Amino acid sequence: MASAVSNLKGATGGNERFNKEAAAWDARPFVHEASEAAAKAILAKCDALGFTARQVLEIGCGTGILSFLIAPHVERVVAVDAAEGMIEVLKQKLQQPGAPANITPVAVLLEDPEDPTLPPADADKPDGPRQKFDLITSHLVLHHIFDLEAVLRTMLGCLPPGGRVMLTDFEDFGPEARRFHAASKKGGVERHGISAKQMTALMEEVGFKDVQVEPQWTMRKKVEKFDGEFGESGKMLDDDGEMMEFPFVLCYGEKP
Ligand SMILES: C[S@@+](CC[C@H](N)C(=O)[O-])C[C@H]1O[C@@H](n2cnc3c(N)ncnc32)[C@H](O)[C@@H]1O
Repeated sequence: MASAVSNLKGATGGNERFNKEAAAWDARPFVHEASEAAAKAILAKCDALGFTARQVLEIGCGTGILSFLIAPHVERVVAVDAAEGMIEVLKQKLQQPGAPANITPVAVLLEDPEDPTLPPADADKPDGPRQKFDLITSHLVLHHIFDLEAVLRTMLGCLPPGGRVMLTDFEDFGPEARRFHAASKKGGVERHGISAKQMTALMEEVGFKDVQVEPQWTMRKKVEKFDGEFGESGKMLDDDGEMMEFPFVLCYGEKP
Protein backbone atom coordinates (compact mmCIF):
# COMPACT_ATOMS: atom_id res chain seq x y z
CA MET A 1 0.00 0.00 0.00
CA ALA A 2 3.05 2.25 0.32
CA SER A 3 3.10 2.79 -3.42
CA ALA A 4 -0.61 3.57 -3.39
CA VAL A 5 0.09 6.67 -1.46
CA SER A 6 3.13 7.61 -3.46
CA ASN A 7 1.37 7.30 -6.84
CA LEU A 8 -1.38 9.73 -6.11
CA LYS A 9 0.85 11.54 -3.67
CA GLY A 10 -1.16 13.11 -1.14
CA ALA A 11 -3.69 10.58 -2.20
CA THR A 12 -5.01 11.42 1.21
CA GLY A 13 -4.85 15.16 0.59
CA GLY A 14 -6.09 14.67 -2.97
CA ASN A 15 -8.92 12.41 -1.86
CA GLU A 16 -9.99 14.77 0.86
CA ARG A 17 -10.17 17.55 -1.70
CA PHE A 18 -12.10 15.48 -4.25
CA ASN A 19 -14.43 14.00 -1.63
CA LYS A 20 -15.21 17.53 -0.48
CA GLU A 21 -15.76 18.81 -4.01
CA ALA A 22 -17.77 15.82 -5.25
CA ALA A 23 -21.29 17.09 -4.47
CA ALA A 24 -20.74 20.40 -6.30
CA TRP A 25 -18.48 18.99 -9.05
CA ASP A 26 -21.15 18.85 -11.78
CA ALA A 27 -22.27 22.45 -11.11
CA ARG A 28 -19.11 23.79 -12.84
CA PRO A 29 -19.68 24.34 -16.58
CA PHE A 30 -15.93 23.99 -17.21
CA VAL A 31 -15.81 20.30 -16.24
CA HIS A 32 -18.64 19.50 -18.68
CA GLU A 33 -17.06 21.48 -21.52
CA ALA A 34 -13.70 19.81 -20.89
CA SER A 35 -15.18 16.28 -20.86
CA GLU A 36 -17.21 17.01 -24.00
CA ALA A 37 -14.03 18.10 -25.79
CA ALA A 38 -12.20 15.00 -24.48
CA ALA A 39 -14.98 12.65 -25.64
CA LYS A 40 -14.96 14.29 -29.08
CA ALA A 41 -11.17 13.91 -29.35
CA ILE A 42 -11.25 10.27 -28.18
CA LEU A 43 -14.07 9.26 -30.53
CA ALA A 44 -12.38 11.09 -33.44
CA LYS A 45 -9.11 9.28 -32.68
CA CYS A 46 -10.91 5.90 -32.68
CA ASP A 47 -12.53 6.79 -36.03
CA ALA A 48 -9.24 7.94 -37.54
CA LEU A 49 -7.60 4.66 -36.49
CA GLY A 50 -10.57 2.50 -37.53
CA PHE A 51 -10.46 1.22 -33.95
CA THR A 52 -13.57 -0.12 -32.21
CA ALA A 53 -13.44 0.07 -28.44
CA ARG A 54 -15.86 -2.26 -26.70
CA GLN A 55 -14.64 -2.60 -23.11
CA VAL A 56 -13.42 0.70 -21.66
CA LEU A 57 -11.72 1.52 -18.35
CA GLU A 58 -11.81 5.13 -17.18
CA ILE A 59 -9.28 5.87 -14.43
CA GLY A 60 -10.10 8.92 -12.28
CA CYS A 61 -13.67 9.18 -13.61
CA GLY A 62 -14.80 11.66 -10.95
CA THR A 63 -18.59 11.88 -11.16
CA GLY A 64 -18.54 10.03 -14.49
CA ILE A 65 -19.07 12.95 -16.90
CA LEU A 66 -16.74 11.48 -19.55
CA SER A 67 -17.98 7.92 -18.91
CA PHE A 68 -21.56 9.07 -19.65
CA LEU A 69 -20.40 10.52 -22.99
CA ILE A 70 -18.40 7.43 -24.02
CA ALA A 71 -20.92 4.81 -22.81
CA PRO A 72 -23.36 5.08 -25.78
CA HIS A 73 -20.51 4.19 -28.16
CA VAL A 74 -19.20 1.06 -26.40
CA GLU A 75 -20.35 -2.13 -24.67
CA ARG A 76 -19.25 -1.27 -21.17
CA VAL A 77 -17.33 1.37 -19.20
CA VAL A 78 -15.74 0.44 -15.87
CA ALA A 79 -15.39 3.83 -14.17
CA VAL A 80 -12.94 3.95 -11.24
CA ASP A 81 -12.01 6.75 -8.90
CA ALA A 82 -9.98 6.89 -5.70
CA ALA A 83 -12.40 9.38 -4.11
CA GLU A 84 -15.44 7.57 -2.70
CA GLY A 85 -17.39 10.84 -2.72
CA MET A 86 -17.04 11.08 -6.49
CA ILE A 87 -18.19 7.48 -6.96
CA GLU A 88 -21.19 8.09 -4.67
CA VAL A 89 -22.30 10.98 -6.91
CA LEU A 90 -21.78 8.79 -10.00
CA LYS A 91 -23.90 6.02 -8.44
CA GLN A 92 -26.71 8.52 -7.76
CA LYS A 93 -26.53 9.78 -11.36
CA LEU A 94 -26.75 6.19 -12.63
CA GLN A 95 -30.08 5.76 -10.76
CA GLN A 96 -31.66 8.64 -12.71
CA PRO A 97 -34.07 7.85 -15.57
CA GLY A 98 -32.27 7.73 -18.92
CA ALA A 99 -28.84 7.07 -17.40
CA PRO A 100 -26.70 4.58 -19.34
CA ALA A 101 -27.02 1.00 -18.07
CA ASN A 102 -23.49 0.01 -19.12
CA ILE A 103 -21.34 1.93 -16.60
CA THR A 104 -19.86 0.04 -13.65
CA PRO A 105 -18.65 2.42 -10.90
CA VAL A 106 -15.75 1.31 -8.68
CA ALA A 107 -14.17 3.21 -5.77
CA VAL A 108 -10.48 2.31 -5.88
CA LEU A 109 -7.06 3.91 -6.16
CA LEU A 110 -6.08 1.72 -9.07
CA GLU A 111 -2.50 0.51 -8.89
CA ASP A 112 -2.74 -3.16 -9.69
CA PRO A 113 -4.24 -4.57 -12.92
CA GLU A 114 -5.31 -7.59 -10.84
CA ASP A 115 -7.05 -5.47 -8.19
CA PRO A 116 -9.98 -7.58 -6.91
CA THR A 117 -12.36 -4.61 -7.19
CA LEU A 118 -12.07 -4.79 -11.00
CA PRO A 119 -14.55 -7.14 -12.71
CA PRO A 120 -13.33 -10.71 -13.32
CA ALA A 121 -12.44 -11.74 -16.87
CA ASP A 122 -14.85 -14.67 -16.49
CA ALA A 123 -18.09 -14.08 -14.55
CA ASP A 124 -18.08 -17.78 -13.55
CA LYS A 125 -14.70 -17.31 -11.85
CA PRO A 126 -15.22 -14.30 -9.57
CA ASP A 127 -11.82 -14.80 -7.91
CA GLY A 128 -10.01 -15.46 -11.18
CA PRO A 129 -7.95 -13.07 -13.33
CA ARG A 130 -9.37 -9.59 -13.81
CA GLN A 131 -10.86 -8.22 -17.01
CA LYS A 132 -8.68 -6.56 -19.69
CA PHE A 133 -9.90 -3.49 -21.58
CA ASP A 134 -9.60 -2.43 -25.26
CA LEU A 135 -9.35 1.22 -24.29
CA ILE A 136 -8.27 3.16 -21.20
CA THR A 137 -9.23 6.80 -20.80
CA SER A 138 -8.27 9.22 -18.07
CA HIS A 139 -9.20 12.90 -18.19
CA LEU A 140 -7.67 15.73 -16.14
CA VAL A 141 -6.06 13.11 -13.89
CA LEU A 142 -2.41 12.78 -14.96
CA HIS A 143 -1.44 16.16 -13.51
CA HIS A 144 -2.45 14.85 -10.06
CA ILE A 145 -0.35 11.66 -10.26
CA PHE A 146 2.99 11.69 -8.46
CA ASP A 147 4.40 8.57 -10.10
CA LEU A 148 3.29 8.69 -13.72
CA GLU A 149 5.49 5.77 -14.69
CA ALA A 150 3.78 3.48 -12.15
CA VAL A 151 0.32 4.48 -13.37
CA LEU A 152 1.30 3.90 -17.00
CA ARG A 153 2.59 0.43 -16.04
CA THR A 154 -0.73 -0.29 -14.32
CA MET A 155 -2.57 0.83 -17.47
CA LEU A 156 -0.38 -1.40 -19.64
CA GLY A 157 -1.27 -4.31 -17.35
CA CYS A 158 -5.01 -3.62 -17.80
CA LEU A 159 -4.77 -3.86 -21.61
CA PRO A 160 -4.60 -6.94 -23.85
CA PRO A 161 -2.09 -6.80 -26.74
CA GLY A 162 -3.52 -4.26 -29.21
CA GLY A 163 -5.35 -2.34 -26.44
CA ARG A 164 -4.98 1.44 -26.46
CA VAL A 165 -4.75 4.35 -24.04
CA MET A 166 -6.20 7.78 -24.87
CA LEU A 167 -5.42 10.07 -21.95
CA THR A 168 -6.40 13.73 -21.96
CA ASP A 169 -5.13 16.60 -19.84
CA PHE A 170 -4.01 20.21 -20.17
CA GLU A 171 -0.57 20.75 -21.64
CA ASP A 172 2.48 22.10 -19.87
CA PHE A 173 3.19 24.75 -22.49
CA GLY A 174 5.51 26.78 -20.26
CA PRO A 175 5.52 28.71 -16.95
CA GLU A 176 2.06 30.22 -17.57
CA ALA A 177 0.49 26.73 -17.43
CA ARG A 178 0.67 26.92 -13.62
CA ARG A 179 -2.18 29.44 -13.74
CA PHE A 180 -4.63 26.62 -14.62
CA HIS A 181 -5.30 26.11 -10.90
CA ALA A 182 -6.15 28.86 -8.43
CA ALA A 183 -3.74 29.03 -5.46
CA SER A 184 -6.29 27.31 -3.18
CA LYS A 185 -6.55 24.34 -5.61
CA LYS A 186 -2.85 23.70 -6.06
CA GLY A 187 -2.72 21.08 -3.27
CA GLY A 188 -2.44 17.62 -4.84
CA VAL A 189 -1.35 19.10 -8.19
CA GLU A 190 1.88 17.26 -9.04
CA ARG A 191 2.67 19.04 -12.33
CA HIS A 192 1.24 22.00 -14.16
CA GLY A 193 0.08 20.07 -17.19
CA ILE A 194 1.60 17.40 -19.39
CA SER A 195 4.81 18.02 -21.29
CA ALA A 196 4.33 16.35 -24.69
CA LYS A 197 8.03 15.58 -25.01
CA GLN A 198 8.44 14.06 -21.53
CA MET A 199 5.19 12.10 -21.75
CA THR A 200 6.13 10.64 -25.15
CA ALA A 201 9.50 9.49 -23.79
CA LEU A 202 7.90 8.01 -20.66
CA MET A 203 5.17 6.13 -22.54
CA GLU A 204 7.75 4.65 -24.90
CA GLU A 205 10.00 3.68 -21.99
CA VAL A 206 7.11 1.93 -20.24
CA GLY A 207 6.44 -0.11 -23.39
CA PHE A 208 3.71 1.55 -25.44
CA LYS A 209 4.13 1.63 -29.22
CA ASP A 210 2.99 4.21 -31.81
CA VAL A 211 2.99 6.83 -29.05
CA GLN A 212 1.60 10.23 -30.01
CA VAL A 213 1.15 13.06 -27.51
CA GLU A 214 -0.35 15.97 -29.37
CA PRO A 215 -2.41 19.09 -28.64
CA GLN A 216 -6.02 18.42 -29.69
CA TRP A 217 -8.05 21.40 -28.55
CA THR A 218 -7.86 24.59 -26.50
CA MET A 219 -10.17 25.85 -23.77
CA ARG A 220 -10.73 29.23 -22.19
CA LYS A 221 -10.66 29.24 -18.40
CA LYS A 222 -10.97 32.04 -15.86
CA VAL A 223 -7.74 32.28 -13.89
CA GLU A 224 -6.42 34.40 -11.01
CA LYS A 225 -4.79 37.74 -11.91
CA PHE A 226 -2.52 37.15 -8.90
CA ASP A 227 -1.93 34.13 -6.65
CA GLY A 228 -4.73 33.83 -4.08
CA GLU A 229 -7.16 36.25 -5.81
CA PHE A 230 -10.02 33.73 -5.60
CA GLY A 231 -9.43 33.16 -1.88
CA GLU A 232 -9.67 29.90 0.06
CA SER A 233 -12.93 28.72 -1.48
CA GLY A 234 -11.81 29.37 -5.06
CA LYS A 235 -15.12 31.19 -5.60
CA MET A 236 -14.96 34.38 -7.61
CA LEU A 237 -17.04 37.48 -8.21
CA ASP A 238 -17.86 38.58 -11.77
CA ASP A 239 -15.02 41.11 -11.91
CA ASP A 240 -12.40 38.71 -10.52
CA GLY A 241 -9.79 36.94 -12.63
CA GLU A 242 -9.12 37.03 -16.34
CA MET A 243 -9.67 34.61 -19.20
CA MET A 244 -6.79 32.50 -20.44
CA GLU A 245 -6.54 29.87 -23.17
CA PHE A 246 -5.14 26.40 -22.35
CA PRO A 247 -4.08 23.73 -24.85
CA PHE A 248 -5.11 20.13 -24.10
CA VAL A 249 -3.20 17.04 -25.22
CA LEU A 250 -4.34 13.54 -26.05
CA CYS A 251 -1.73 10.94 -25.07
CA TYR A 252 -2.11 7.91 -27.31
CA GLY A 253 -0.32 4.59 -27.21
CA GLU A 254 -0.91 0.93 -28.06
CA LYS A 255 0.13 -2.17 -26.13
CA PRO A 256 2.36 -4.26 -28.44
C1 LIG B 1 -9.44 16.57 -11.41
S1 LIG B 1 -10.36 15.14 -11.00
C2 LIG B 1 -11.05 14.79 -12.60
C3 LIG B 1 -12.32 14.00 -12.53
C4 LIG B 1 -12.98 13.73 -13.89
N1 LIG B 1 -12.10 12.99 -14.76
C5 LIG B 1 -13.44 15.02 -14.54
O1 LIG B 1 -12.75 15.51 -15.44
O2 LIG B 1 -14.50 15.54 -14.15
C6 LIG B 1 -9.13 13.87 -10.80
C7 LIG B 1 -9.69 12.58 -10.24
O3 LIG B 1 -8.73 11.53 -10.42
C8 LIG B 1 -8.84 10.64 -9.32
N2 LIG B 1 -7.62 9.78 -9.34
C9 LIG B 1 -6.33 10.17 -9.47
N3 LIG B 1 -5.50 9.10 -9.54
C10 LIG B 1 -6.27 7.99 -9.48
C11 LIG B 1 -6.01 6.57 -9.51
N4 LIG B 1 -4.79 6.05 -9.63
N5 LIG B 1 -7.06 5.72 -9.41
C12 LIG B 1 -8.31 6.21 -9.32
N6 LIG B 1 -8.62 7.55 -9.27
C13 LIG B 1 -7.62 8.42 -9.36
C14 LIG B 1 -9.06 11.56 -8.14
O4 LIG B 1 -9.67 10.90 -7.06
C15 LIG B 1 -9.99 12.64 -8.76
O5 LIG B 1 -11.36 12.37 -8.54
